[in-house]
Amino acid sequence: MSRVSIPDIYEAYEDGEPLTMLTAYDAPIARQVDAGGVDMILVGDSAGHNHHGYDDTLPLTLEEALSNTAAVDRAVENAMVIGDLPFLTYGTSLEESVENAGRFIKEAGADAVKLETAPGGETTIEIVDRLTELGVPVQGHVGLTPQRLRQIGGGYVQGRGHDSSATVDALVETAERLADAGVFSLVLEAVTEETGKRVTEAVDVPTIGIGAGRYVDGQVLVTTDLLGLGGESYRLSKQYADLDATIHDAVEEYVTDVRNGNFPTRENAYDPID
Ligand code: KIV
Repeated sequence: MSRVSIPDIYEAYEDGEPLTMLTAYDAPIARQVDAGGVDMILVGDSAGHNHHGYDDTLPLTLEEALSNTAAVDRAVENAMVIGDLPFLTYGTSLEESVENAGRFIKEAGADAVKLETAPGGETTIEIVDRLTELGVPVQGHVGLTPQRLRQIGGGYVQGRGHDSSATVDALVETAERLADAGVFSLVLEAVTEETGKRVTEAVDVPTIGIGAGRYVDGQVLVTTDLLGLGGESYRLSKQYADLDATIHDAVEEYVTDVRNGNFPTRENAYDPID
């Protein structure tokens, strides 16, 4: 069976079927996320804090992101795999941006790449234009763009129009320009519900919200948050499991079993001698 393609995404979008996307950074989680039936798997740069233990997304290197994407690629059969370009692996020059994005497709097996765009971000709009002309499918990302965290000063909701929050108009215009440049879909992160609705009405590509309210074409969540696996509890998210507690209990039980002599047993031994 071949993976979800861009025409498949458009077919669902045109039929009004909500699109689903989740993150994965390694093979075991990717395998389960894929089996659960999502349309797209994002190998997010949120791996920076959720997988590699950095404070945020910024330190994630190109090589780490490529390695995560390749692991996900090896595990996924059905969903579209999207590699997220880390901070400053694009935008420094057009040549370097194209080369680095190309490595996600050629070396890591991604089906598409994602990159973040600041309100009015000329540089990244030009990169999207070049990549899509060359045949690299690109997913855009506007609203809260965590790679600009130092500049914005925190995880502020966008679309409120104050110092650390772009105006709705600026976000709508940026989204329109990204759609014109050729993105096949657009992530909207932490924006007011009005922003989510207006962007969705303004563009003719599917919008995928995370904290963008109800009036968008699809949803994405960070899987570690959804699973309760070292994730955090955010208003924009929903926790469907408590894997931290499950893992903690399993490890405690193992430690107790070994200390009490309950593991290993005769059944666990090769050629037991008594
Ligand atoms: O890196 C990531 O996980 C993301 C999602 C929040 C969309 O960009």
